[in-house]
Amino acid sequence: MPVRIAPSILSADFSKLGDEVRAIDAAGADWIHVDVMDNHFVPNLTIGPMVVKALRSHSAKPFDVHLMVQPADALVEAFAEAGADILSVHPESGPHLHRTLMRIRALGKQAGVVLNPATPLAALDHVMDLIDLVLVMSVNPGFGGQSFIESALPKIEAIRKRIDLSGKAIELEVDGGVDAGNAGRLANSGATMLVAGTASFKGGPGRYAANIAALKAA
Ligand code: DX5
Ligand code: ZN
Repeated sequence: MPVRIAPSILSADFSKLGDEVRAIDAAGADWIHVDVMDNHFVPNLTIGPMVVKALRSHSAKPFDVHLMVQPADALVEAFAEAGADILSVHPESGPHLHRTLMRIRALGKQAGVVLNPATPLAALDHVMDLIDLVLVMSVNPGFGGQSFIESALPKIEAIRKRIDLSGKAIELEVDGGVDAGNAGRLANSGATMLVAGTASFKGGPGRYAANIAALKAA
């Protein structure tokens, strides 16, 4: 299966987010990636559940909500109600990862675990049965437009092996500094979904389809 693309609306024009979501959907986005930052877990402040609710009617594609908030539990419910389909959390953002993942599943949503560049694979050891997605950070979270960290590649290969061993249909998504220059290597390393902010939205709406096609073809 060819790699799929989840454009991060962090790189969209925030003055017209509804138009941007419609345009990136029409351009071939597979998922809509929403970066939620709290100025506490990460040094930036972005999108709350009310914005997700307002955007929900602008696309039928899955909303892939990446929670960079501490604590995450209360917001999990708010984003689920707002229309998130996939909710991903960082193990460092709370004391009870297992409980948070159970809560996401109890809400009928797909659950993901996000691994920062320095977070070991062992964070996945006892939650493989609870997750639908592993999100590998290839930058430190907090900002779009950062450079890809190469050590993500062997990590992706190692997680690919774990997922295959588990026999489960767990998505392997990569986030940060993804572009047409590394997308092919990421897919070959076992990634199934690529988050792309800058690389999807660069050049404005007239370029979105070509941007996404270039990532898929890489
Ligand atoms: C970083 C976010 C990313 C970011 C990616 O904390 O999780 O999703 O928007 O942006 P680019 O693709 O520009 O690196
Ligand atoms: Zn993200």
